[in-house]
Amino acid sequence: MEVAQILCMNKGGGETSYTQNSSLQQKIISDSMPITEKAVDALISTDATSASPPQSIAIADLGCSSGRNALLLISDTINLLYAKCKRLGYPLPEVSVFLNDLFNNDFNSIFGSLPDFHRRLKDTNGDEVGRCFISGVPGSFYGRLFPKHSLNFVHSSSSLHWLSKVPEGLKGEDKIRMNKGKVYLSRTSPPSVLLAYAAQFRNDFSRFISSRSEEMVSGGRMVLSFMGRKSMDPTAAGTAHQWELLAEALTTLVSQGLVDAKKIESFNAPFYAPCMKEVRMEIEKEGSFDIDRFEEFDVEWDDSAERVNSGLKSPSRGQRVAKTIRAVVETMLESHFRFGGEIMDVLFERYGAIIEDYLSWNTIKSTNLVVSFVKK
Ligand SMILES: C[S@@+](CC[C@H](N)C(=O)[O-])C[C@H]1O[C@@H](n2cnc3c(N)ncnc32)[C@H](O)[C@@H]1O
Repeated sequence: MEVAQILCMNKGGGETSYTQNSSLQQKIISDSMPITEKAVDALISTDATSASPPQSIAIADLGCSSGRNALLLISDTINLLYAKCKRLGYPLPEVSVFLNDLFNNDFNSIFGSLPDFHRRLKDTNGDEVGRCFISGVPGSFYGRLFPKHSLNFVHSSSSLHWLSKVPEGLKGEDKIRMNKGKVYLSRTSPPSVLLAYAAQFRNDFSRFISSRSEEMVSGGRMVLSFMGRKSMDPTAAGTAHQWELLAEALTTLVSQGLVDAKKIESFNAPFYAPCMKEVRMEIEKEGSFDIDRFEEFDVEWDDSAERVNSGLKSPSRGQRVAKTIRAVVETMLESHFRFGGEIMDVLFERYGAIIEDYLSWNTIKSTNLVVSFVKK
């Protein structure tokens, strides 16, 4: 099934919502900010021989989701643009902002928060703000979303590790048997399963790059940040603990008669954490972008800022990590396993306990890749 039909961050503002459980992704946006700032700065040229100051700038955030992160990057970007224009004595450009996500995303809640967003923009910049036009663009970023040569700056955070679909070629008795009890790549996955995942990533990522290549203006900037891995080996220890431990939690529900074992065997996550080399190869093969910066950094999953900021009663470290993951994968699990409500609660209680145990002798870290590009 296409990811567009089954992936949707938990809506609303309740205890299991993405809004309440996305400080990890917020941290990733701020850890990538030095690279983003440099790219945004380059949008306003100071070269005396180049064309006059831009009258308008179009920016797109791909996979924006909803909640407090959805407009975070946008307000930072606009503040940076205004500050640079003021420093140079340039008139403020009109800014068009395109917020993209899949069709089921909670765009209404983003639109509802726009008055606040405009107010904050004025608070930060005094009354000197330019016109800012914001629109939602529903659709998959693995295809064209915008007219040709219409975008100056593209950003995406914590989204590109989602594939467009579960790779084909995972069916067959032997593959199911060898990937038994797993929901993603693991040490026991047969080589054909590893190859199927890598091929799906290459196919999706190249479609992403070639679509943006058509949509962006020459000299335009793009900053992408997503989960990756350090090792060339996609099954190396520590690259996919969230999926390993989720599979363990699901398996314990089988013994309680709450989940059918066959359902676990047929579930494979439409996710892929590439290494730098795989990403670089696709960019170079497509050929229309220069890489300006390419970095990787570790992110710890147990984010204590969540506990402090949320005002909710403090759960254990394991439960906090489980809630972060629940806010992202719950709709996908619901659609495959056909359970919700109480069983979902049992599953994530169990998952939290397993993570808590794991954290007592380990840390859950993931590698985040950040790439900054210039369109040739
Ligand atoms: C974990 S959220 C990240 C949201 C936000 N950028 C942040 O940093 O908090 C990932 C988002 O990517 C979106 N997404 C996944 N695949 C997508 C696709 N093919 N096209 C557009 N959005 C996609 C999901 O719907 C989800 O809202």
